[in-house]
Amino acid sequence: MDGLNNSVVSEFVLLGLSSSWETKVFLMLLFSLMYLGIILGNLFILFLVIFDSHLHTPMYFLLANLSLIDMGVSSTTVPKMISDLLKEYKTISFQNCMTQICFIHIMGGVEMVLLIAMAFDRYTAICKPLHYLNIMNPKMCVSFVITGWITGIIHAMSQFSFIVNLPFCGPNKIDSFYCDFPRIIKLACLDGAKFEFIVAANSGFMTMGTFFLLLLSYVFILVTVWKRSSGDLSKAFVTLSAHITVVVLFFTPCMFLYVWPFPTSTTDKYLFIVDFAITPVLNPAIYTFRNKDIKVAIKRLSKRGPYVKFC
Ligand SMILES: *[C@@H]1O[C@H](CO)[C@@H](O)[C@H](O)[C@H]1NC(C)=O
Repeated sequence: MDGLNNSVVSEFVLLGLSSSWETKVFLMLLFSLMYLGIILGNLFILFLVIFDSHLHTPMYFLLANLSLIDMGVSSTTVPKMISDLLKEYKTISFQNCMTQICFIHIMGGVEMVLLIAMAFDRYTAICKPLHYLNIMNPKMCVSFVITGWITGIIHAMSQFSFIVNLPFCGPNKIDSFYCDFPRIIKLACLDGAKFEFIVAANSGFMTMGTFFLLLLSYVFILVTVWKRSSGDLSKAFVTLSAHITVVVLFFTPCMFLYVWPFPTSTTDKYLFIVDFAITPVLNPAIYTFRNKDIKVAIKRLSKRGPYVKFC
């Protein structure tokens, strides 16, 4: 690695979530439970979608992909955060820090494209029902997923290529529980304004763009349902409000970190717990519990009971 040559810093110190010892124990238990919930909940969705042929539709394929990414997103930070909680001196090596940043941004990029794809899927199903199967054909679904991965990789690498070569020579304390661009740039031994701009332009543009595209698709869906049902919005609104809540929860921390023009503050790091630990557990919840197909699939699964045949 080129970046190591002109850097003196070989590891970063994470200040983590500062609090009393009792709170740390409580947080450790809480995050462990949430992480378990994220892994089990999302694995359950993956399992249902893969093994129940009734769920082999565009929406559920995208949902299974989202579950996979949700597990990935939280795995980039949560296990390390949990194991660090009770440690007095938390460190992360230069390479691990860079790897963590890369994975966060690749996964984040894929997640955003998948959220757009799922919103587009719902928009098509509700607003253009007659053309739904034509538009959301298998080729389209696969291209959404591939586009997600390509976007995530380009998005992460385009910023990473600037950051990895920055000189890190002195300060190495990161006031957070994970590594990310804005905080790393602050530690570089040169004026980071240009690099901060690159990150704000790239990550900021991506989060804002995705956020408004999603809101726009929800508005289209609501207007369509409203016109069709001559004013009765309640059912559509109940479903959509869960999605809108998760989207707002997911995007608020991102916008605070990348778009907010003021310096990163200590409260940012608490906000990001939402993205890594809360929305990954909410996604399976909102897509599963209120959903008839999934309920029926679970019933089918429990009826088959011990005679379940895989493959
Ligand atoms: C992800 O989506 C693609 C395209 O629809 C699908 O073929 C694939 O099975 C999905 N992956 C999972 C893990 O469900």
